[in-house]
Amino acid sequence: AGMKIDPKSGEISYGWEVLMPPFDYDLGDAGKKLSDGWAFFTCYNSERATGKLEVTASQRDRDYIAAVNWRAAEKAIAEGKGDVIGGVKVLDPKKVPGVVYLLPCGKSPHGVDVAPDGKYIIGSGKLQGVTTAFNFEKVQTAIRNKDFTGDEDGIPVLKYESIKDAEVPVGLGPLHTQFGPDGYAYTSLFVDSAIAKWKLGTWEVVDKVPMSYSIGHLAAAEGDTVSPDGKYLVGLNKLSHGRHLSVGPSQPESSQLVDITEEKMKILLDAFTEPEPHYAQIIKADKVKPIEVYPKEENKNPLAIWDVKDAGVSREGGNVTAKVVLVRSTISPTVIEVNQGDLVKVALTNIEQTTDELHGFGLLDYNINVVVDPGETKTVTFRADKPGVFPYYCTNFCSALHQEMQGYLIVR
Ligand code: CUA
Repeated sequence: AGMKIDPKSGEISYGWEVLMPPFDYDLGDAGKKLSDGWAFFTCYNSERATGKLEVTASQRDRDYIAAVNWRAAEKAIAEGKGDVIGGVKVLDPKKVPGVVYLLPCGKSPHGVDVAPDGKYIIGSGKLQGVTTAFNFEKVQTAIRNKDFTGDEDGIPVLKYESIKDAEVPVGLGPLHTQFGPDGYAYTSLFVDSAIAKWKLGTWEVVDKVPMSYSIGHLAAAEGDTVSPDGKYLVGLNKLSHGRHLSVGPSQPESSQLVDITEEKMKILLDAFTEPEPHYAQIIKADKVKPIEVYPKEENKNPLAIWDVKDAGVSREGGNVTAKVVLVRSTISPTVIEVNQGDLVKVALTNIEQTTDELHGFGLLDYNINVVVDPGETKTVTFRADKPGVFPYYCTNFCSALHQEMQGYLIVR
């Protein structure tokens, strides 16, 4: 599927789909520089098997990487070549050739990763001992020469020998590859529980570092961009196996920080993560530019108020609205009085304009607890079905008088 993202608003909408054979699809990576305009996706179970896939989906030696020319797909859609299925424009490769090709890859590949210059596409069968470096220029030549070995539902299958540059003997169970700034690649080895470091172009494996147990994903600093930063890499391991004090049957999993500045890799640190660590990105800190508070002018909530004197309770029949201001160190109003059976809407505006000054609103007896960021308004609605006096209070430490930030709901 091609999704459209509005660069201004960030809104995502459906673009188009390409009709594909009923394989299982896994991961993808975008082409870059040389291969810009293309995207690559791994797939397995090209046997189209059902039932015990452990056996039935591993019969062929190779599955595929699907190479999608998304610029060609966009052009075809613009020319009205898509069929509308379920409200989505779908391209059928049988009717619209040139949009997708299949690259044979070792069976059951997991990741596919495009090198920083866009020239190499790295994919591995996860039961193999090698990873394959496909050459994008050779892929283009094979497409031009119709160097195909067959097709799957009308999608041409390129000849493996014509499009690969190398099979790199990285070790057993290669899953994912990340890149450094100096032409090195780093491949996670699930079966070997290690990371292999190897060189693009010479295809030489220069080092391996063991991981605590069964590495899955890995992330090098900006390691899947056109300009990898190097220096650090994190291995995300599927189990922690003895790396920490056991605290029960369910144990945290481990990630390990690796120094990749020298030719020999060095483990620097173990950290424990939730199961199961599936992906990470390392980016330079100065690229992260978060807003500090929600801008007041962007708060369109009609119940937002910005002055303590506007706080209060109003009623329309059985509907009660409480406009509440949260600011150090009072919840205003300090009393909300309603009748049993009222539908109560509480609109909470945190008028703080200071970084990290969150306030909460906890009303234990009605099972309510929300946290409101600076400049934000949130509403909670409940039926006041229990009579009595119930405390509400701030649930996020905000000042020395945090615990004094409280009031009472009275239900008559
Ligand atoms: Cu506000 Cu604690």
